[in-house]
Amino acid sequence: MNLAVFASGTGSNFQALVDDPAIFPAIKLLVCDKKTAPVIRRAEQAGIPVFVFTAKDYVDKASFEQEILDELARYSVDLCVLAGYMRLIGPTLLGTFQNRIVNLHPSLLPAFPGKDAIGQAYQARVEETGVTAHFVDSGMDTGPVIAQEKVVIAQEDTIETLTEKIHQVEHRFYPAVVKQLMASGKEVE
Ligand code: GRF
Repeated sequence: MNLAVFASGTGSNFQALVDDPAIFPAIKLLVCDKKTAPVIRRAEQAGIPVFVFTAKDYVDKASFEQEILDELARYSVDLCVLAGYMRLIGPTLLGTFQNRIVNLHPSLLPAFPGKDAIGQAYQARVEETGVTAHFVDSGMDTGPVIAQEKVVIAQEDTIETLTEKIHQVEHRFYPAVVKQLMASGKEVE
C-alpha cells in the first residue's frame, strides 16, 4: 500500500511515521500547503518527494485539490494520512479517496473538535482527554472513528506538560493505527 502524508507544520507525527521501519518504505509523498513548514526539511532528509503548494495561487479549493490528485495518481497512492494538515478536505479529494483519508486529532472526538483541541480540553478542566484517529468526511473532525487512546489530565499538569503528553501518545498511537490499516486493507477499499 502506498501512502501520502499531508502536513502543514512541525511534522513530529510525520517523523514518527518515517521512523517506523514498517511504514517508511510505503511513504511515497509529502503534501504540504506551507512553503516554510519545518516538515518539508524532514521529508527532504528522509528522501521523500514533496508536493508543496500555496492555496492563494489557485482560484479555488477544487483547483489545488485537482493538482494534489494528479500527484497522488503519479505515486499510485492508496491512502492519505493527514498529520497536522490544517485544511478541510473538499469534494474533489473526498470524491476519489472516500474512506481512504485518515486524520489524527488531539482529543477524544466528538469532544473538542477544531483548532487547539488540547487547549480546549485543558480549559474545560476535564479529567481526561486523548487522541483520535478517524476517517475524514466533509466535516471538521467528524468522520467515523477508527481508534482512540485516553490521556489523563493530572492536577499538576500545565498546558505545556499536557501538550507534551499528548504528542508522546500520538507518536506511538498513529504509526500503530496506520500499520493496522496497511495490514487490513479492508477499511480502505
Ligand atoms: C498533532 O497534534 C495532530 O493531532 C494535529 O496536529 C498536530 C500536528 O503536530 N492534527 P505535528 O506537526 O505532527 O508535530
